[in-house]
Amino acid sequence: MKIAKTNEALATLLQDAKAANHSIGFVPTMGALHAGHIALIEQSKRENQITVCSIFVNPTQFNDAADLAKYPRTEEVDAQKLEKVDCDILYLPTVDEVYPSDWQSPDFDLGHFDSIMEGKMRPGHFKGMAQVVYRLLYLVRPNKLYMGQKDLQQFTIIKHLIPQFNLGFELICAPIVREADGLAMSSRNVRLSEDERAIAPLIYKTLTTANPANFKSPSTYRDFAITQLEHAYMKVEYVEVVDRNSLLPVNNWTESQEKAICVAVQLGPIRLIDNIFID
Ligand code: PAJ
Repeated sequence: MKIAKTNEALATLLQDAKAANHSIGFVPTMGALHAGHIALIEQSKRENQITVCSIFVNPTQFNDAADLAKYPRTEEVDAQKLEKVDCDILYLPTVDEVYPSDWQSPDFDLGHFDSIMEGKMRPGHFKGMAQVVYRLLYLVRPNKLYMGQKDLQQFTIIKHLIPQFNLGFELICAPIVREADGLAMSSRNVRLSEDERAIAPLIYKTLTTANPANFKSPSTYRDFAITQLEHAYMKVEYVEVVDRNSLLPVNNWTESQEKAICVAVQLGPIRLIDNIFID
């Protein structure tokens, strides 16, 4: 695996692949890599000749300075994990490489996506996320971009921005990788205490009970889910049954054939998000 720490080094490494018309798959991350990230790399490896992974803890998408400071940074171990799955290029830039003083971010229109669910809870987060993904795409110029269903709203926003980006890539949604007990893998899970970790799988369990046959309407399910999670001492930020494309709430089960159920809770020191797709 080759490591590039500057845009120039990255361009040099990509030159040959581009000249040979090789397909480039790109997996942007913020590091602290776990099996969920690695599954994205493996999928890109299967579907492209060259796979690029970036590790960059993007300051502009953190609305809380303490959260940014606490974000785990484990570059050496991450590089070993990527090496093990034969990732071709690791792009590991500094803040100055990603945001040089003469670079100005385009102002993307996120529409209603910025003011619902995660957007409501984390003002400015998605603007910063869109900015960095655009910048990284501009530098890597991949054929395929791999993002996880785990962050469904993030994925959906990038899908919505494809025409505004105008960078000619295909966006791939990768399934959520879970621990054996169902908890969605996340870099933040290590901050859970033993007791908190033991109750965290209830989130996925609650999601998987959302069978329309058992609940009259999405709002009946929602009431059940909130009560169940709060009984387990989780502070529920939202439970939403939404259309998978618009991410807007549905009022009855038949309103959309492509639904997602999205949850965010505060458990001890961290926020956990998860979702499942239902028909
Ligand atoms: P990060 O949280 O490091 O996630 C990188 C990618 O891994 C995202 O596309 C995310 O959805 C995916 N991912 C995380 N947990 C996963 C899991 N359990 N199963 C499958 N995929 C999973 O998301 C970001 O970084 C940043 O916002 C970024 C897009 C890199 C922009 O800074």
